[in-house]
Amino acid sequence: MARILITSAIPYINGIKHLGNLVGSQLPADLFARYMRQRGHEVLFLCATDEHGTPAELAAAKAGKPVAEYCAEMWQVQKDLSDGFRLSFDHFGRSSSPQNHKLTQHFAGRLAEAGLIREVSEEQVYSHADKRFLPDRYIEGTCPNCGYDRARGDQCENCTKQLDPTDLIDPRSAISGSTDLEVRETKHLYLRQSEMRGQLNDWIDSKTDWPILTTSIARKWLNDGDGLRDRGITRDLDWGIPVKKGEAEWPGMEGKVFYVWFDAPIEYIACAAEWVDAGKGDDWERWWREDKGAEDVRYVQFMGKDNVPFHTLSFPATIMGSGEPWKLVDYIKSFNYLNYDGGQFSTSQGRGVFMDQALEILPADYWRWWLLSHAPESSDSEFTWENFQASVNKDLADVLGNFVSRVTKFCRSKFGEVVPEGGEYGDAEVALVAELQGRVDAYQAHMEAMEVRKSAAELRAIWVAGNEYLQAAAPWAAYKEDPDRAAAIVRLSLNLIRLYAVLSEPFIPDASAAMLEAMGAAGADWPDTVGEALAALPAGHGFTVPDVLFAKITDEAREGWQEKFAGQRG
Ligand code: MF3
Ligand code: ZN
Repeated sequence: MARILITSAIPYINGIKHLGNLVGSQLPADLFARYMRQRGHEVLFLCATDEHGTPAELAAAKAGKPVAEYCAEMWQVQKDLSDGFRLSFDHFGRSSSPQNHKLTQHFAGRLAEAGLIREVSEEQVYSHADKRFLPDRYIEGTCPNCGYDRARGDQCENCTKQLDPTDLIDPRSAISGSTDLEVRETKHLYLRQSEMRGQLNDWIDSKTDWPILTTSIARKWLNDGDGLRDRGITRDLDWGIPVKKGEAEWPGMEGKVFYVWFDAPIEYIACAAEWVDAGKGDDWERWWREDKGAEDVRYVQFMGKDNVPFHTLSFPATIMGSGEPWKLVDYIKSFNYLNYDGGQFSTSQGRGVFMDQALEILPADYWRWWLLSHAPESSDSEFTWENFQASVNKDLADVLGNFVSRVTKFCRSKFGEVVPEGGEYGDAEVALVAELQGRVDAYQAHMEAMEVRKSAAELRAIWVAGNEYLQAAAPWAAYKEDPDRAAAIVRLSLNLIRLYAVLSEPFIPDASAAMLEAMGAAGADWPDTVGEALAALPAGHGFTVPDVLFAKITDEAREGWQEKFAGQRG
């Protein structure tokens, strides 16, 4: 039994996530966590909301709420949606937690002691009306190059010229429109990640088993001179973690907070502390400190490709730079993007299907199956309603659902609601068991390797094998001449339902639970061998016919959704 720490990239607080976000980190992380638990390993699976930064402040302002209140509400909304999708986090934390304040300040203190932080004086635009410094892109004005009157402080959208806020003619705040602006001197902390280039390089070099998508992005930024340039880790904002050196004040940094990308990954650690403080565990350092029991933990992170630089460079720089024995990630599974019907999913434009909308139209398992079996692993992938309808109808309704329904209903009508006795297994059964054993071995290997699509394809093949067996063995025909032969086929098939439920749990946990419940086999364990698993339900064991597991998606329903989701979210 191993100990496996699993984290999913923590979603931004500002708004409900779309299906592209879901399949890019949380859902595959859940697949892996569920599988590893089933195999008997000790798993700690953590996620949280990413609550700081300008976008959170602006979203709160737009909602007309104090930012702390907005974040608390949105955390609950996101938590309920993760429950709805059956994401089995051991804890769903918040980057704004007191635990994260303390740890983030601790790391900053350690980095300062190690000489890895320098203070830099900068000039930045201050808005009197907004009572705050404005990030470059929140300053608007007239472009000195082309005269466009809505150029942003970082770039003119019209002529593409890169700008400094001070280049703008008649600058104003994009938040309030105020022109009462002033250039002020302000001090910030920079993390000297460039000092750690050698160490980071050696570390990435040692990760020979990582997916190419992960290492190629890490290497690109490591080798590109710009990728490891020292970065500002503080901001002039109100909402965030106050800049401190451990527990001590940081002279000159009063009123400033840490940059969201500095504190967000530290929440992976703080979340384990939150888990303990919530009474769900008793020792978080055992998962995170190599000197306190974590030396044998395997730590796996899941994320979209845009997050890779922060997890291969900045966060490891924070951990290594601290000089303390915190756990570094052992494996990073990263994903490409899921597109939506010929374009991109977009939160800002409300384009695509969002988590709340998805659950309003269909249960979680339908989405989980489609998303995971089409995970954007080796390249971007695309959601279309036709493809979604086809996969649900074929894989879930025709193959798995139909198998369960045919077997249980046939048995009920001929033998009653018990596993029938009599008859012997013959060549067809021996061949099926051999085929399934090979497939289950392959399935396990793919799940272990986090090959999401390959795992789904193998699981589907396992379902198909049972269907083909049933079709060929045809107990409804055998029953007329040789009821014992039919009994043997049905006995094996009922056991197959139980086996399918166990194997399918990581993908479709609700259907799996319904199947086990119907088979009177709740809590069934992962099989040692297929042969043994198919003898688990003996003759005489009672079962019930479950409700339809998966309803087919009709053309009308598909067309209706297609239309409903064609525009922007209202
Ligand atoms: N909120 C970020 C995003 O959605 C992910 C943060 S992951 C962590 O892209 F490293 F910061 F934790
Ligand atoms: Zn311009």
